[in-house]
Amino acid sequence: MYSIEVKASSGSYPIYIKNGLLDDIGVEVKKIYKGSKIAIVTDSTVNEFYGQRIISSLKMSGYEPIKIVVKAGEESKSFETLLEVYDKLLDFKINRGDIIIALGGGVVGDMAGFAASTFLRGIPLIQIPTTLLAQVDSSVGGKVAVDLPRGKNLVGSFYMPKAVFIDPLLLGTLSDRFLNDGMGEVIKYGAIKDNELFYKLMKYENKEALLKEIDKIIYTCCSIKAAIVEIDEKDTGERMLLNYGHTIGHAIEQFYNFKKYSHGEAVAMGMYSITKLGEELGMTTVGTSTAIKDILIKYNLPWMFPEINCEDVIETISHDKKNIGESMNFILIESIGNSFIEKINKTNIKDYLLGVIK
Ligand SMILES: NC(=O)c1ccc[n+]([C@@H]2O[C@H](COP(=O)([O-])OP(=O)(O)OC[C@H]3O[C@@H](n4cnc5c(N)ncnc54)[C@H](O)[C@@H]3O)[C@@H](O)[C@H]2O)c1
Repeated sequence: MYSIEVKASSGSYPIYIKNGLLDDIGVEVKKIYKGSKIAIVTDSTVNEFYGQRIISSLKMSGYEPIKIVVKAGEESKSFETLLEVYDKLLDFKINRGDIIIALGGGVVGDMAGFAASTFLRGIPLIQIPTTLLAQVDSSVGGKVAVDLPRGKNLVGSFYMPKAVFIDPLLLGTLSDRFLNDGMGEVIKYGAIKDNELFYKLMKYENKEALLKEIDKIIYTCCSIKAAIVEIDEKDTGERMLLNYGHTIGHAIEQFYNFKKYSHGEAVAMGMYSITKLGEELGMTTVGTSTAIKDILIKYNLPWMFPEINCEDVIETISHDKKNIGESMNFILIESIGNSFIEKINKTNIKDYLLGVIK
């Protein structure tokens, strides 16, 4: 079993990574929680695959678990769903000595995490991420949130889990699209911090070869994220490096109303265009954008900027909550594995983007 200790201001928490961990979850939870009630929040798809297995394992260890199943998909990161979850937690008489488990992808992790952080001013939370994106990214670092009709993740908090349990075998049922989507984030870690990881990803011949070593890859990514969030828990400095490709990616996602491109696909295009831009500005070693393009093609991720109105992209970027003020931060890479934050004046962005969108 791989383990990582993440140091946070509210105390540290462990991440455990092991194939088959879900079936031992009762035994593992017993080491950190001595009560009896557990509310598992999951979505309809994950419930079909894994709902019964988690309940069995928890019952075998003497727990009294209930399941709260929400609809699969981003729509469940809403206040409507949140109210339904609060309601079920009240029915089950959950209190601050009990525990909530978020079993699912980033949607369940963010929404159930936000429910845990707010219900009765905070119920201890365990994350069991089931998508690659959630295993390498969203379950680590304590960001939890729900969406508002006017934008994503607009209401949320920083709420550290008691533990994160990762079973890489759960990825076996994930669709290729969501697997590739998560690979977008894995590639990001390689590009910003770890060229060995990046070039290793270039070598896998097929999905089977990749999945055989995915536990190690998840460990590497979680270690990188843990190291970054330990330095900058509240996202004001070093943590911004994790946004490589995200500023432009978010604008693309938003332009298409989150319907056309998944998060990983939009970030993929963002990573290529910002790297190409870095080369044009003389800040990135020439050839780096080609390496990014090659790896995105290998994992069936888009790289070419879509045919969209440049003005709209700029407008969207300017309204992003992270881009308040005269200038804004872009993450550039000097070469694969070496990233830095570059402040760019908003008036210059249009020229930069016009250079990219061509
Ligand atoms: N908190 C953070 O730091 C952070 C970071 C990145 C992204 N996010 C958020 O994460 C969300 C996206 O997460 P996601 O991509 O995991 O989406 P998701 O949670 O919607 O999962 C994608 C799909 O895969 C299904 N699924 C999940 N696990 C499965 C499995 N093992 N087998 C088969 N199907 C499975 C789900 O039912 C869903 O249909 C967004 O809301 C984003 O804002 C949060």
